[in-house]
Amino acid sequence: MKIAVAGTGYVGLSIAFLLAQHQEVTALDIVPSKIEQLQAGISPIKDAQIEAFLSRQQQDPSALHFSATLDATAAYENAEFAVIATPTNYDSEQNSFDTSSVEAAIEAVRAVNAQAWIVIKSTIPVGYTERIRQSMGDSRILFSPEFLREGKALADNLHPSRIVVGAPQEDAAAWQAAHTFAELLRQEADPSERDRRNADGSQGIPTLVVGTTEAEAIKLFANTYLALRVAYFNELDTYAAVRGLDTRAIIQGVGLDPRIGSYYNNPSFGYGGYCLPKDSKQLLANYDSVPQNLITAIVEANRTRKHFIAGQVLERIEDIDQPVVGVYRLTMKEDSDNFRQSAVQDIIRELKQNGVRVLIYEPTLAAQRFLDCPVTADIDSFKRESTLIVANCWNEQLADVESKVYTRDLLNHD
Ligand SMILES: NC(=O)c1ccc[n+]([C@@H]2O[C@H](COP(=O)([O-])OP(=O)(O)OC[C@H]3O[C@@H](n4cnc5c(N)ncnc54)[C@H](O)[C@@H]3O)[C@@H](O)[C@H]2O)c1
Repeated sequence: MKIAVAGTGYVGLSIAFLLAQHQEVTALDIVPSKIEQLQAGISPIKDAQIEAFLSRQQQDPSALHFSATLDATAAYENAEFAVIATPTNYDSEQNSFDTSSVEAAIEAVRAVNAQAWIVIKSTIPVGYTERIRQSMGDSRILFSPEFLREGKALADNLHPSRIVVGAPQEDAAAWQAAHTFAELLRQEADPSERDRRNADGSQGIPTLVVGTTEAEAIKLFANTYLALRVAYFNELDTYAAVRGLDTRAIIQGVGLDPRIGSYYNNPSFGYGGYCLPKDSKQLLANYDSVPQNLITAIVEANRTRKHFIAGQVLERIEDIDQPVVGVYRLTMKEDSDNFRQSAVQDIIRELKQNGVRVLIYEPTLAAQRFLDCPVTADIDSFKRESTLIVANCWNEQLADVESKVYTRDLLNHD
């Protein structure tokens, strides 16, 4: 089957490589450097599995059926499915995602191919697919939410928690196409997933074909729950810090209830990354005239937490003459090269507003300045020059300067 994928970021590349195991996949981007890298067998993003797949293809060109191009006609012509994985950033003026890249990609597909089933993988507002099907007069558009984590993008598609595809049930052709696409994703997953036993006793990858609006809601409610969970353990930690209690002991005791669990419970400076901040804001916008308290609280809790952390840092340096606050890494996770919306950026902004000198250690950043602060890749001079080191994630690299480190990463996991 010929499949086109628009967007060669985390989502686009992981889907493209997943499907290229047995289907003919062409990935398209509008940024020439990304396509040049892919054509040279280099991954434009840090992802161990994608790098492994690319090097496999370099050694044996028949191992994968993957190519990359800037040419929309070459990508979309004759494709049976066109998967859209372009960015949807939250626009705070419009109070909604900016979906213009998705619309541009749909128009580009239709300019050369009237028949392809378009599957939107980008995260979109609840109700978007139905609106666009009507406004564009195009019934061949589906939506499939993506649940991958950055740094493990392809691994998460080879071992998916679940597969969800949305289509209007009353449209038999679209419903059938949604099942075909779900089956493609399922077949290309790691074969070990076929024998997997799920908590409800079912076997294999749980697969749902639902309405497009329900599929969109699944994505936003899942990410907003994850944001809630981070915010909850962060507020637990704020309470313990203010009252002089042992956060670790409280979290351990709370998590031993199996309904709560001892995972995804590590305090941090705030939830961040590309998706949780924007997706929770989009869900809040979708509530519009629907009664709620919690969704607002989830969005605001992150602001409160970051302000609290900045206050803790300011307190620690208030008696120091000419302090330099060293920020250890901008990324949210150790295995990521991406720091879009990382929580520490708002801490840096607040420190700068208070006239504090900030030095950033970020070896993945080529620029010499970020947020108007100097950036270094030299860990030794960074440790020497920093009066206090602020680290969202603890790393053994800091063990020899532990006494100057401020972190809330108490459990050393996600
Ligand atoms: N990153 C994640 O962890 C993640 C997880 C689930 C869902 N999502 C959602 O998936 C979407 C993509 O996220 P991402 O992290 O892969 O983004 P990304 O920024 O890493 O990649 C998007 C790519 O699309 C390209 N692009 C932009 N306009 C285009 C167009 N008209 N045609 C072709 N390519 C175009 C960009 O150049 C870029 O390479 C977003 O809506 C995001 O919310 C992301």
